[in-house]
Amino acid sequence: MDHALIILAAGKGTRMKSDLPKVLHEIGQAPMLVHAIAAGAALEPARVIVITGHGADAVKAAALAYEPDAHCLLQEPQLGTGHAVAQAAPALEGFHGEAVVLYGDTPFIRPQTLSAMAEARAAGADLVVLGFEAADPGRYGRLITQGDTLLKITEFKDASSEEQAINLCNSGVIMADAGQLMDLVGALGNDNAAAEYYLTDIVEIGRARGLRAQVVRCDEAETQGVNSRAQLAEAEASFQTRCRAEALENGVTLIAPETVFFAQDTVIGRDAIIEPNVVFGPGASIETGARIRAFCHIEGAHVSRGAIVGPYARLRPGAELSEDVHIGNFVEVKNATLGAGAKANHLSYLGDASIGAESNIGAGTITCNYDGVLKHRTQIGARAFIGSNTMLVAPVSVGDEAMTGSGSVITADVPEKAMAIGRAKQVTKPGLAAKLRAHLQALKSKRQNEG
Ligand code: UD1
Ligand code: MG
Repeated sequence: MDHALIILAAGKGTRMKSDLPKVLHEIGQAPMLVHAIAAGAALEPARVIVITGHGADAVKAAALAYEPDAHCLLQEPQLGTGHAVAQAAPALEGFHGEAVVLYGDTPFIRPQTLSAMAEARAAGADLVVLGFEAADPGRYGRLITQGDTLLKITEFKDASSEEQAINLCNSGVIMADAGQLMDLVGALGNDNAAAEYYLTDIVEIGRARGLRAQVVRCDEAETQGVNSRAQLAEAEASFQTRCRAEALENGVTLIAPETVFFAQDTVIGRDAIIEPNVVFGPGASIETGARIRAFCHIEGAHVSRGAIVGPYARLRPGAELSEDVHIGNFVEVKNATLGAGAKANHLSYLGDASIGAESNIGAGTITCNYDGVLKHRTQIGARAFIGSNTMLVAPVSVGDEAMTGSGSVITADVPEKAMAIGRAKQVTKPGLAAKLRAHLQALKSKRQNEG
């Protein structure tokens, strides 16, 4: 069965007190909107539809950056969740399948939960609504049920005191046949306390038409929404807790799990060891058996099996470490590949470079990749030896098994097996140090005597 995701993301999020649209606030360094789309990805949706409104251009850009085929439709003005779903109609033309409504500010719905909803649909329910028992039901819509049969959803503002006493709440996630859903939202009115077109009213309308509505329940944690900065911080904390638990479950060693921070798309293979205080940015993948030592920041980088990184290393986008590479303390790698077994153990910047297998990059080496206007590449062959404190002024290449003398400024290509030395020649004057020191001491005494 084909699925279409309809993600509601038009709301302003007033309580965030932000210039940024709410759904673009980040959890695990990815916009909440991306989490919502990713949650639906388990259904392998044939269409992804995002309803935009406040900050529409920015929301659209974020949606397309993650899902280039997303249909972004503008809801203007925003007249409620039912009105928002109705805006999806043009993107559903010719689509025959299931529609799944998700909220852009409810990022943690689990794939298993969506599967359970799909099963309920397959078993004959026309409308499947995701509900949860709320510890504090607050202002959530209340689900009025008889067993698992859903009779209606009452918004808090419109609820009687008896209805307000119900703990079973509406998450907002709904699954139905797409054509039927569009029919139902077309029939909505706005005669309610907020004068909005409530999506939730489709349950009563549907039942009046003889449709069967059913509740599937999930854990409250899944429906955790974000309406304020405090809730954003809570959502981040629960996201990190979950990532840590998943990593441990998958066979990753985290020495101090609570000090490791994951991004939405971090991938770590089993038997990798992550030492304390490591932060992963977007696009990090760590293969099985690699070791990330303490205090590393890793983003847009791939670390192959057997590699050791850190402590105190920074891998930036485009860092590609092959098997058994060693990157040591205070080494920054950006847009650079290191071949198998290559080592850069201390105090280096390796940017826009390719470094061959088993080459050794001495302490303090810098690829001078930027001339103030353009970036240039440094190419180093296999088994090369770059002496400590070499400046490699790109564009420049160093051949296989070549060497550079420490302290060299390398501005011209070095052929394979050659040795390049680019530094001032040493001059040694016997006894001069002693003479100079005596002279300076005399100067100092004279000044002290002069008071
Ligand atoms: C909604 C539900 C409520 C449920 C709660 C769960 C309705 C009428 N109520 O209430 O039953 O318990 O969510 O969190 O559906 N949006 C638009 N366009 C609009 C209005 C909203 O895109 O015109 C989007 C918002 O950006 C948000 C989502 O829809 O992502 C939910 O809207 P929100 O205003 O937060 O609804 P609630 O009042 O919380
Ligand atoms: Mg809300």
